[in-house]
Amino acid sequence: MLPLRLPLLFLLVSVALCQYDDYDYQPASRHGPSGPNCHQECDCPFNFPTAMYCDSRKLKFVPVVPTGIKYLYLQNNLIEEIKAGVFDNVTDTLRWLILDNNQITNAKIEKGTIDKLSALEKLFFSNNNLTEPVIPPSKSLDELKIMHNQLSKFPSGLLSDKENLTSVNVQNNQLTSDAIGGAFKGPKKMLSLDVSHNKLKKLPAGVPGSLEILYADYNEIDIVGAGYLGKLPLLQSLRISHNKLVDSGIPAGVFNVTSLVELDLSFNQLKSIPEINENLEQLYLQANKIEKFELTSLCKYVSTTSFSHLKHLRLDGNMVTHSSMPPESSNCLRVASDVIFE
Ligand SMILES: *[C@@H]1O[C@H](CO)[C@@H](O)[C@H](O)[C@H]1NC(C)=O
Ligand SMILES: *[C@@H]1O[C@H](CO)[C@@H](O)[C@H](O)[C@H]1NC(C)=O
Ligand SMILES: *[C@@H]1O[C@H](CO)[C@@H](O)[C@H](O)[C@H]1NC(C)=O
Ligand SMILES: *[C@@H]1O[C@H](CO)[C@@H](O)[C@H](O)[C@H]1NC(C)=O
Repeated sequence: MLPLRLPLLFLLVSVALCQYDDYDYQPASRHGPSGPNCHQECDCPFNFPTAMYCDSRKLKFVPVVPTGIKYLYLQNNLIEEIKAGVFDNVTDTLRWLILDNNQITNAKIEKGTIDKLSALEKLFFSNNNLTEPVIPPSKSLDELKIMHNQLSKFPSGLLSDKENLTSVNVQNNQLTSDAIGGAFKGPKKMLSLDVSHNKLKKLPAGVPGSLEILYADYNEIDIVGAGYLGKLPLLQSLRISHNKLVDSGIPAGVFNVTSLVELDLSFNQLKSIPEINENLEQLYLQANKIEKFELTSLCKYVSTTSFSHLKHLRLDGNMVTHSSMPPESSNCLRVASDVIFE
Protein backbone atom coordinates (compact mmCIF):
# COMPACT_ATOMS: atom_id res chain seq x y z
CA MET A 1 0.00 0.00 0.00
CA LEU A 2 1.21 3.48 -0.84
CA PRO A 3 2.24 5.78 1.98
CA LEU A 4 -0.23 8.48 2.79
CA ARG A 5 0.68 11.59 0.89
CA LEU A 6 -2.21 13.98 1.16
CA PRO A 7 -0.95 17.55 1.26
CA LEU A 8 -2.25 19.46 4.23
CA LEU A 9 -3.01 22.71 2.57
CA PHE A 10 -5.14 25.39 4.00
CA LEU A 11 -8.09 25.75 1.75
CA LEU A 12 -8.60 29.22 0.41
CA VAL A 13 -12.29 29.69 0.79
CA SER A 14 -13.21 31.83 -2.10
CA VAL A 15 -16.21 29.76 -2.99
CA ALA A 16 -19.66 31.22 -3.13
CA LEU A 17 -18.63 34.84 -2.84
CA CYS A 18 -19.50 35.51 -6.44
CA GLN A 19 -23.25 34.97 -6.30
CA TYR A 20 -24.16 38.56 -5.53
CA ASP A 21 -23.25 40.24 -8.80
CA ASP A 22 -26.72 41.68 -8.99
CA TYR A 23 -26.04 44.80 -10.94
CA ASP A 24 -24.11 43.61 -13.94
CA TYR A 25 -27.24 43.28 -16.02
CA GLN A 26 -26.91 46.75 -17.46
CA PRO A 27 -25.92 47.16 -21.10
CA ALA A 28 -22.43 48.52 -21.77
CA SER A 29 -23.55 51.87 -23.01
CA ARG A 30 -26.29 53.39 -20.90
CA HIS A 31 -25.46 57.00 -21.46
CA GLY A 32 -26.41 59.15 -24.43
CA PRO A 33 -29.65 60.90 -25.24
CA SER A 34 -32.94 59.61 -23.93
CA GLY A 35 -35.72 58.29 -26.09
CA PRO A 36 -38.68 60.64 -26.67
CA ASN A 37 -41.14 58.74 -24.56
CA CYS A 38 -39.02 58.46 -21.41
CA HIS A 39 -40.15 59.60 -17.99
CA GLN A 40 -38.37 62.86 -17.19
CA GLU A 41 -36.72 61.44 -14.06
CA CYS A 42 -35.20 58.51 -15.94
CA ASP A 43 -32.94 57.56 -18.87
CA CYS A 44 -33.97 55.47 -21.85
CA PRO A 45 -30.91 54.97 -24.09
CA PHE A 46 -31.49 55.39 -27.85
CA ASN A 47 -29.52 52.24 -28.55
CA PHE A 48 -31.56 50.26 -26.01
CA PRO A 49 -34.99 51.85 -26.25
CA THR A 50 -36.81 49.11 -24.37
CA ALA A 51 -34.93 49.87 -21.14
CA MET A 52 -35.71 52.62 -18.67
CA TYR A 53 -33.10 53.45 -16.02
CA CYS A 54 -34.46 55.16 -12.95
CA ASP A 55 -31.97 53.72 -10.46
CA SER A 56 -29.96 55.60 -7.82
CA ARG A 57 -31.69 58.96 -7.97
CA LYS A 58 -33.52 59.29 -4.66
CA LEU A 59 -36.90 58.62 -6.20
CA LYS A 60 -39.76 58.25 -3.73
CA PHE A 61 -42.22 56.84 -6.24
CA VAL A 62 -42.39 54.50 -9.21
CA PRO A 63 -42.78 56.66 -12.32
CA VAL A 64 -45.45 55.96 -14.94
CA VAL A 65 -43.84 53.50 -17.32
CA PRO A 66 -44.23 54.38 -21.00
CA THR A 67 -45.41 52.01 -23.70
CA GLY A 68 -42.60 49.88 -25.13
CA ILE A 69 -40.48 49.49 -21.97
CA LYS A 70 -39.48 45.91 -21.22
CA TYR A 71 -36.65 46.40 -18.73
CA LEU A 72 -37.19 48.70 -15.78
CA TYR A 73 -34.44 49.59 -13.30
CA LEU A 74 -35.55 51.20 -10.06
CA GLN A 75 -32.92 49.94 -7.61
CA ASN A 76 -31.21 52.15 -5.01
CA ASN A 77 -33.94 54.70 -4.44
CA LEU A 78 -36.19 55.71 -1.55
CA ILE A 79 -39.35 54.20 -2.95
CA GLU A 80 -41.95 53.31 -0.33
CA GLU A 81 -45.01 52.76 -2.47
CA ILE A 82 -46.25 51.63 -5.87
CA LYS A 83 -49.31 53.56 -7.05
CA ALA A 84 -52.08 52.06 -9.16
CA GLY A 85 -51.76 52.77 -12.87
CA VAL A 86 -47.97 53.09 -13.18
CA PHE A 87 -47.64 49.88 -15.19
CA ASP A 88 -50.91 50.21 -17.14
CA ASN A 89 -49.18 50.60 -20.53
CA VAL A 90 -46.77 47.72 -20.00
CA THR A 91 -48.83 45.07 -18.22
CA ASP A 92 -48.28 42.53 -20.99
CA THR A 93 -44.81 43.62 -22.12
CA LEU A 94 -42.67 44.37 -19.03
CA ARG A 95 -40.10 41.60 -18.59
CA TRP A 96 -37.66 42.77 -15.93
CA LEU A 97 -38.57 44.73 -12.83
CA ILE A 98 -35.65 45.61 -10.58
CA LEU A 99 -36.64 47.14 -7.25
CA ASP A 100 -33.70 46.22 -4.99
CA ASN A 101 -32.70 48.61 -2.22
CA ASN A 102 -35.87 50.54 -1.59
CA GLN A 103 -38.30 50.66 1.34
CA ILE A 104 -41.41 49.12 -0.11
CA THR A 105 -43.94 47.54 2.26
CA ASN A 106 -46.76 45.19 1.21
CA ALA A 107 -49.42 47.61 2.40
CA LYS A 108 -48.21 50.28 -0.03
CA ILE A 109 -48.30 48.20 -3.17
CA GLU A 110 -51.63 49.18 -4.66
CA LYS A 111 -53.90 46.82 -6.53
CA GLY A 112 -53.51 47.04 -10.29
CA THR A 113 -49.71 47.18 -10.25
CA ILE A 114 -47.54 44.08 -9.91
CA ASP A 115 -50.65 41.92 -9.82
CA LYS A 116 -51.29 42.87 -13.46
CA LEU A 117 -47.88 42.09 -14.92
CA SER A 118 -48.49 39.11 -17.18
CA ALA A 119 -45.15 38.86 -19.00
CA LEU A 120 -42.65 39.45 -16.20
CA GLU A 121 -39.58 37.19 -16.30
CA LYS A 122 -37.40 38.67 -13.56
CA LEU A 123 -38.53 40.22 -10.32
CA PHE A 124 -35.76 41.51 -8.04
CA PHE A 125 -37.10 42.85 -4.77
CA SER A 126 -34.19 42.46 -2.33
CA ASN A 127 -33.49 44.86 0.53
CA ASN A 128 -37.02 46.16 0.92
CA ASN A 129 -39.56 45.92 3.73
CA LEU A 130 -41.80 43.13 2.49
CA THR A 131 -43.41 40.84 5.04
CA GLU A 132 -44.89 38.55 2.42
CA PRO A 133 -43.91 37.78 -1.16
CA VAL A 134 -45.30 39.72 -4.09
CA ILE A 135 -45.77 37.42 -7.06
CA PRO A 136 -46.96 38.61 -10.48
CA PRO A 137 -49.50 36.53 -12.43
CA SER A 138 -46.95 36.05 -15.24
CA LYS A 139 -46.40 32.42 -16.14
CA SER A 140 -43.07 33.41 -17.70
CA LEU A 141 -41.38 34.29 -14.42
CA ASP A 142 -37.91 32.72 -14.44
CA GLU A 143 -36.06 34.42 -11.61
CA LEU A 144 -37.30 35.67 -8.25
CA LYS A 145 -35.12 37.37 -5.66
CA ILE A 146 -36.58 38.64 -2.40
CA MET A 147 -33.48 38.59 -0.23
CA HIS A 148 -33.07 40.70 2.91
CA ASN A 149 -36.69 41.55 3.55
CA GLN A 150 -38.88 40.64 6.51
CA LEU A 151 -40.80 37.81 4.91
CA SER A 152 -42.49 35.79 7.61
CA LYS A 153 -44.67 33.74 5.30
CA PHE A 154 -44.66 32.34 1.81
CA PRO A 155 -48.13 30.94 1.16
CA SER A 156 -48.48 27.57 -0.51
CA GLY A 157 -49.26 27.51 -4.22
CA LEU A 158 -48.10 31.02 -5.14
CA LEU A 159 -45.56 29.62 -7.59
CA SER A 160 -47.51 26.60 -8.78
CA ASP A 161 -48.15 27.92 -12.31
CA LYS A 162 -44.62 29.26 -12.90
CA GLU A 163 -43.56 26.65 -15.41
CA ASN A 164 -40.32 28.44 -16.35
CA LEU A 165 -39.14 29.49 -12.91
CA THR A 166 -35.53 28.35 -12.46
CA SER A 167 -34.19 30.35 -9.55
CA VAL A 168 -35.65 31.54 -6.23
CA ASN A 169 -33.66 33.35 -3.57
CA VAL A 170 -35.31 34.29 -0.27
CA GLN A 171 -32.23 34.35 1.95
CA ASN A 172 -32.15 36.63 4.98
CA ASN A 173 -35.81 36.72 5.91
CA GLN A 174 -37.85 35.45 8.88
CA LEU A 175 -39.26 32.32 7.30
CA THR A 176 -40.13 29.33 9.49
CA SER A 177 -40.70 25.78 8.28
CA ASP A 178 -44.44 26.10 8.91
CA ALA A 179 -44.57 29.35 6.94
CA ILE A 180 -43.09 27.78 3.80
CA GLY A 181 -44.90 24.43 3.75
CA GLY A 182 -45.76 23.91 0.07
CA ALA A 183 -44.35 27.30 -1.00
CA PHE A 184 -42.04 25.89 -3.63
CA LYS A 185 -44.30 23.20 -5.02
CA GLY A 186 -45.02 23.30 -8.72
CA PRO A 187 -42.24 24.87 -10.80
CA LYS A 188 -40.96 21.87 -12.73
CA LYS A 189 -37.81 23.54 -14.03
CA MET A 190 -36.53 25.02 -10.77
CA LEU A 191 -32.78 24.56 -10.51
CA SER A 192 -31.77 26.70 -7.59
CA LEU A 193 -33.35 27.55 -4.23
CA ASP A 194 -31.71 29.61 -1.51
CA VAL A 195 -33.47 29.71 1.87
CA SER A 196 -30.38 30.46 3.95
CA HIS A 197 -30.46 32.89 6.91
CA ASN A 198 -34.03 32.16 7.92
CA LYS A 199 -35.62 30.31 10.84
CA LEU A 200 -36.19 26.89 9.34
CA LYS A 201 -36.17 23.82 11.56
CA LYS A 202 -35.98 21.42 8.62
CA LEU A 203 -35.14 21.51 4.93
CA PRO A 204 -38.01 22.93 2.84
CA ALA A 205 -40.72 20.39 2.06
CA GLY A 206 -42.16 19.61 -1.36
CA VAL A 207 -39.41 21.21 -3.44
CA PRO A 208 -39.28 20.36 -7.15
CA GLY A 209 -37.40 17.23 -8.20
CA SER A 210 -35.52 19.32 -10.75
CA LEU A 211 -33.42 21.13 -8.11
CA GLU A 212 -29.65 21.12 -8.60
CA ILE A 213 -28.73 23.60 -5.88
CA LEU A 214 -30.24 23.94 -2.41
CA TYR A 215 -28.77 26.35 0.13
CA ALA A 216 -30.13 26.33 3.67
CA ASP A 217 -27.18 27.67 5.68
CA TYR A 218 -27.80 29.66 8.88
CA ASN A 219 -31.12 28.20 9.96
CA GLU A 220 -32.15 26.08 12.95
CA ILE A 221 -32.22 22.75 11.17
CA ASP A 222 -31.64 19.77 13.45
CA ILE A 223 -32.92 16.95 11.29
CA VAL A 224 -32.83 15.76 7.69
CA GLY A 225 -35.76 13.53 6.76
CA ALA A 226 -34.89 10.00 5.66
CA GLY A 227 -35.39 9.92 1.91
CA TYR A 228 -35.32 13.72 1.55
CA LEU A 229 -32.58 13.54 -1.04
CA GLY A 230 -34.14 10.54 -2.71
CA LYS A 231 -36.77 12.92 -4.07
CA LEU A 232 -34.09 15.21 -5.53
CA PRO A 233 -32.28 12.96 -8.01
CA LEU A 234 -30.50 15.87 -9.72
CA LEU A 235 -29.26 17.71 -6.63
CA GLN A 236 -25.56 18.53 -6.93
CA SER A 237 -24.92 21.04 -4.20
CA LEU A 238 -26.42 21.01 -0.71
CA ARG A 239 -25.41 23.47 1.98
CA ILE A 240 -26.67 23.17 5.55
CA SER A 241 -23.82 24.90 7.37
CA HIS A 242 -24.42 26.88 10.60
CA ASN A 243 -27.41 24.86 11.72
CA LYS A 244 -28.11 22.53 14.64
CA LEU A 245 -27.49 19.15 13.09
CA VAL A 246 -26.65 16.31 15.48
CA ASP A 247 -25.91 12.68 14.61
CA SER A 248 -29.37 11.52 15.67
CA GLY A 249 -30.95 13.91 13.13
CA ILE A 250 -29.12 12.27 10.24
CA PRO A 251 -30.66 8.92 9.21
CA ALA A 252 -28.23 6.30 7.94
CA GLY A 253 -27.31 6.83 4.32
CA VAL A 254 -29.37 9.99 3.89
CA PHE A 255 -26.50 11.77 2.11
CA ASN A 256 -25.39 8.68 0.19
CA VAL A 257 -26.90 9.76 -3.12
CA THR A 258 -25.08 9.60 -6.44
CA SER A 259 -25.94 13.08 -7.75
CA LEU A 260 -24.34 15.08 -4.93
CA VAL A 261 -21.00 16.75 -5.72
CA GLU A 262 -20.81 19.27 -2.87
CA LEU A 263 -22.06 18.87 0.70
CA ASP A 264 -21.54 21.55 3.33
CA LEU A 265 -22.34 20.46 6.89
CA SER A 266 -19.85 22.78 8.57
CA PHE A 267 -20.65 24.56 11.86
CA ASN A 268 -23.04 21.97 13.24
CA GLN A 269 -22.77 19.52 16.13
CA LEU A 270 -21.99 16.26 14.38
CA LYS A 271 -19.86 13.74 16.24
CA SER A 272 -19.28 11.39 13.35
CA ILE A 273 -18.68 11.65 9.65
CA PRO A 274 -21.94 10.83 7.82
CA GLU A 275 -21.92 8.22 5.06
CA ILE A 276 -21.42 9.81 1.69
CA ASN A 277 -21.44 8.52 -1.84
CA GLU A 278 -18.21 7.89 -3.70
CA ASN A 279 -19.22 10.53 -6.27
CA LEU A 280 -19.03 13.38 -3.74
CA GLU A 281 -16.15 15.79 -4.46
CA GLN A 282 -16.39 18.47 -1.76
CA LEU A 283 -17.24 17.72 1.85
CA TYR A 284 -17.21 20.47 4.47
CA LEU A 285 -17.33 19.30 8.06
CA GLN A 286 -15.27 21.95 9.81
CA ALA A 287 -16.40 23.22 13.20
CA ASN A 288 -18.36 20.17 14.32
CA LYS A 289 -17.59 17.75 17.15
CA ILE A 290 -16.20 14.90 15.15
CA GLU A 291 -14.31 12.47 17.36
CA LYS A 292 -12.98 9.88 14.98
CA PHE A 293 -12.11 9.40 11.38
CA GLU A 294 -14.38 6.65 10.08
CA LEU A 295 -13.11 5.65 6.71
CA THR A 296 -16.17 3.47 6.09
CA SER A 297 -18.30 6.62 5.92
CA LEU A 298 -16.32 7.66 2.88
CA CYS A 299 -15.64 4.26 1.28
CA LYS A 300 -17.49 1.14 2.26
CA TYR A 301 -15.45 -1.00 -0.11
CA VAL A 302 -12.25 -0.07 -1.87
CA SER A 303 -11.19 -1.66 -5.14
CA THR A 304 -9.55 -0.60 -8.37
CA THR A 305 -12.84 0.80 -9.65
CA SER A 306 -14.48 1.70 -6.35
CA PHE A 307 -13.02 4.60 -4.35
CA SER A 308 -14.04 8.02 -3.10
CA HIS A 309 -13.95 10.91 -5.55
CA LEU A 310 -13.49 13.44 -2.75
CA LYS A 311 -11.14 16.25 -3.72
CA HIS A 312 -11.62 18.53 -0.72
CA LEU A 313 -12.40 17.43 2.79
CA ARG A 314 -12.39 19.91 5.66
CA LEU A 315 -12.24 18.59 9.19
CA ASP A 316 -10.64 21.53 10.96
CA GLY A 317 -12.28 22.62 14.19
CA ASN A 318 -13.06 19.04 15.27
CA MET A 319 -11.42 16.52 17.59
CA VAL A 320 -9.54 14.64 14.88
CA THR A 321 -6.04 15.13 13.54
CA HIS A 322 -4.08 13.84 10.64
CA SER A 323 -2.96 10.90 12.74
CA SER A 324 -6.61 9.83 13.17
CA MET A 325 -6.62 8.70 9.55
CA PRO A 326 -6.18 4.94 9.15
CA PRO A 327 -3.38 3.82 6.82
CA GLU A 328 -5.84 2.55 4.19
CA SER A 329 -7.07 6.11 3.71
CA SER A 330 -4.82 6.80 0.76
CA ASN A 331 -6.42 4.02 -1.21
CA CYS A 332 -9.93 5.27 -0.51
CA LEU A 333 -9.13 8.96 -0.90
CA ARG A 334 -6.97 8.52 -3.91
CA VAL A 335 -7.96 11.73 -5.69
CA ALA A 336 -8.11 14.00 -2.64
CA SER A 337 -5.89 17.04 -3.03
CA ASP A 338 -6.81 18.71 0.28
CA VAL A 339 -7.70 17.10 3.57
CA ILE A 340 -7.68 19.84 6.15
CA PHE A 341 -7.41 19.17 9.87
CA GLU A 342 -6.32 22.52 11.25
C1 LIG B 1 -50.27 54.95 -22.47
O1 LIG B 1 -51.07 54.52 -23.54
C2 LIG B 1 -52.03 55.49 -23.96
C3 LIG B 1 -52.92 54.85 -25.00
O2 LIG B 1 -52.13 54.21 -25.99
C4 LIG B 1 -51.29 56.71 -24.47
O3 LIG B 1 -52.23 57.70 -24.84
C5 LIG B 1 -50.40 57.25 -23.37
O4 LIG B 1 -49.61 58.32 -23.86
C6 LIG B 1 -49.47 56.17 -22.86
N1 LIG B 1 -48.73 56.69 -21.71
C7 LIG B 1 -47.42 56.52 -21.60
C8 LIG B 1 -46.77 57.10 -20.38
O5 LIG B 1 -46.75 55.86 -22.41
C1 LIG C 1 -37.75 49.62 6.25
O1 LIG C 1 -36.85 48.90 7.08
C2 LIG C 1 -35.73 49.67 7.47
C3 LIG C 1 -34.77 48.74 8.18
O2 LIG C 1 -35.43 47.86 9.01
C4 LIG C 1 -36.24 50.80 8.37
O3 LIG C 1 -35.15 51.60 8.77
C5 LIG C 1 -37.21 51.66 7.56
O4 LIG C 1 -37.78 52.65 8.39
C6 LIG C 1 -38.33 50.78 7.00
N1 LIG C 1 -39.14 51.61 6.11
C7 LIG C 1 -40.45 51.49 6.02
C8 LIG C 1 -41.12 52.38 5.06
O5 LIG C 1 -41.10 50.68 6.70
C1 LIG D 1 -41.06 28.88 -21.17
O1 LIG D 1 -39.81 28.83 -21.85
C2 LIG D 1 -39.90 28.25 -23.15
C3 LIG D 1 -38.48 28.14 -23.68
O2 LIG D 1 -37.80 29.32 -23.56
C4 LIG D 1 -40.79 29.13 -24.02
O3 LIG D 1 -40.89 28.59 -25.30
C5 LIG D 1 -42.17 29.22 -23.38
O4 LIG D 1 -42.99 30.10 -24.10
C6 LIG D 1 -42.05 29.73 -21.94
N1 LIG D 1 -43.34 29.69 -21.27
C7 LIG D 1 -43.91 30.77 -20.78
C8 LIG D 1 -45.23 30.61 -20.11
O5 LIG D 1 -43.37 31.87 -20.85
C1 LIG E 1 -23.72 4.15 -0.49
O1 LIG E 1 -24.71 3.44 -1.18
C2 LIG E 1 -24.20 2.48 -2.07
C3 LIG E 1 -25.34 1.93 -2.90
O2 LIG E 1 -26.43 1.61 -2.09
C4 LIG E 1 -23.47 1.40 -1.28
O3 LIG E 1 -22.94 0.42 -2.14
C5 LIG E 1 -22.32 2.07 -0.52
O4 LIG E 1 -21.67 1.14 0.29
C6 LIG E 1 -22.83 3.22 0.33
N1 LIG E 1 -21.69 3.96 0.83
C7 LIG E 1 -21.45 4.13 2.11
C8 LIG E 1 -20.23 4.91 2.47
O5 LIG E 1 -22.19 3.70 2.96
